[in-house]
Amino acid sequence: MARFVALVLALAQAAAALALPLDARSSSPKLVFAHHIVGNTFTYTQDTWTNDILLAASKGIDAFALNIGPDSWELGQVSSAFAAAESLSANTTFKLFISFDMSVFPCSQASHASTIQQYIQQFAGHPNQLQVSGRPFVSTFSGESCTFGTGSVNQGWTNVVRTSGLNAYFVPSFFVDPATFGSYPVADGVFGWNSGWPTGNFNITFDPDQSYIANLGGRAYMAAASAWFFTHYSPQTFDKNFIYRGDDWLLAQRWEALIAHRDAVDFVEVNTWNDYGESHYVGPIEGVQPASQAWVDGFDHTAWLDLIAHYITAFKTGAPAPITRDRTFLWARLAPANANAPADTVGRPANWQWTSDALWAIIQLTSPATVTLTCGPSALTAPLPAGTSKLRLALVAECDVASSVTRGGQSVAFKPEGMHFSTAPAAYNFNAFVVASP
Ligand SMILES: *[C@@H]1O[C@H](CO)[C@@H](O)[C@H](O)[C@H]1NC(C)=O
Ligand SMILES: *[C@@H]1O[C@H](CO)[C@@H](O)[C@H](O)[C@H]1NC(C)=O
Repeated sequence: MARFVALVLALAQAAAALALPLDARSSSPKLVFAHHIVGNTFTYTQDTWTNDILLAASKGIDAFALNIGPDSWELGQVSSAFAAAESLSANTTFKLFISFDMSVFPCSQASHASTIQQYIQQFAGHPNQLQVSGRPFVSTFSGESCTFGTGSVNQGWTNVVRTSGLNAYFVPSFFVDPATFGSYPVADGVFGWNSGWPTGNFNITFDPDQSYIANLGGRAYMAAASAWFFTHYSPQTFDKNFIYRGDDWLLAQRWEALIAHRDAVDFVEVNTWNDYGESHYVGPIEGVQPASQAWVDGFDHTAWLDLIAHYITAFKTGAPAPITRDRTFLWARLAPANANAPADTVGRPANWQWTSDALWAIIQLTSPATVTLTCGPSALTAPLPAGTSKLRLALVAECDVASSVTRGGQSVAFKPEGMHFSTAPAAYNFNAFVVASP
C-alpha cells in the first residue's frame, strides 16, 4: 500500500552554467520545508503528526511539503496533519502545503483538474496552510506533461490553480530544460528537485541552480537539499537499484552553497523527511516503509537533522549558528563499495564506483581542541579551531569507528554503538549509518 516517489532519472542538466548575475532577493522570506511522503504514513495517528511537526519545527523547518498520490486514504492523513498543526497553534507557527506527486496522479483530462483543485481548495483557507504573498502555496513532483485536457501544460495548470476563486502560489518541480521556463507563466517559482544531489561522479555544485535562477525571470527559486541517495529494489519490485554520490559531506557542501547564494534562493526543501526507499530521510523511522526495511532498519538518520538545524539558521539569518557545545557528527557506508554480497540477489547498485570507502565527520567545537578519528588500522589526529570543521577517515579494514575530543588534558571519547565497518557484508547496503555525539 505504501507508495514511494519514483525519482525521475537525472534529466540532462543540459543548460550550461550561465554567467548571468543572480537576482538579489534579500527581501524574500527564506523558508525551509521538508518533503514528507504521505504515502508512507498509513499507520500514522494525529499524535505521530504532532511529534513530527514539533521535531521539524524545533530544527527550524517552517513547513512540510505533503507529497500525496491519488490513494483515497491519503486525504485522511493530510486532514490529520492539518489538525495536528492547528492543535499546536500555541506552540509553533508550523505550516503545511500539498506537493502533488504527478508521477502517479492522472492529468490528461479536464476531470483530472477538478480532483486536484478540490484537494487544494479543501485546505487553502486552513490556518496552517502555508501562504506566500497571501496565496496558498502549492507544489508538485513532476507534472511537466500534464495538460488536463487543454492544448498546453501551462493552460492545464492554469485551470487547476487559477480558477473558481483559487489563486495558488504555484511552485512545481517540472523536469524540463530551464531555458523553457518562459513557457510556464503559471509558475510563481520553480523547484529544482534534482539540485540536491550531484547526478554524476563529481561534487555537487551550484551550477544547475544558477541555470534555473537565470531562466526564472525574477520568479522564486526553491532549491533542494539532501544528504544521501541509495535505493535497492529488484526488477520484480520497483526496479531501481542505484546511488547518487553523497561523498565529501554532500549535506554540508550543499548547505554551504545555499548559504553563500542565499540572496538568490527563496525556499529550500529538504529531501526528504521520510523517503525510506531512497535513503534520504532525516526524520525518525516510523509509519510504513515501502519494502525498504533491508537497508533502513537500524539506520536512524536524525543526527543529520540536528546538523541541518545549524545550516538552516545560517541560511535564514546570514550568520552562522552559535556553537554552544562540542559535537561530533559521523556517517559512513558500513561496507566497501566493491565488497561482494552474493546472497543479495538485487546486486550491487549502479554508480557504486562513484563512492569511496570513508568516514565523513563534521566537528563542532566551542573552542580549539584536538580531535581523533579511528577505525582499526586507520587513524587521524587533527588540531581544530573553534567552529565547524570537516574530517575524512579512509575505511580500509574490518573495524569499529571511534572518536575523541581533547582539550586542556581532558579527553571525551565517543564510540558509537553499531558503527562497524564490515568487509564481508551480508547485503549490498549503501545506506549511511549516521550518529552524533550526545
Ligand atoms: C503547547 O503549549 C501549551 C501552552 O503553552 C503547553 O501547555 C503545552 O504543553 C505545549 N505542548 C507541547 C507539546 O509542547
Ligand atoms: C570534492 O571536494 C573535496 C573537497 O571538499 C575534494 O577533496 C575532492 O577531491 C572532490 N571530489 C571530486 C570527485 O571532485
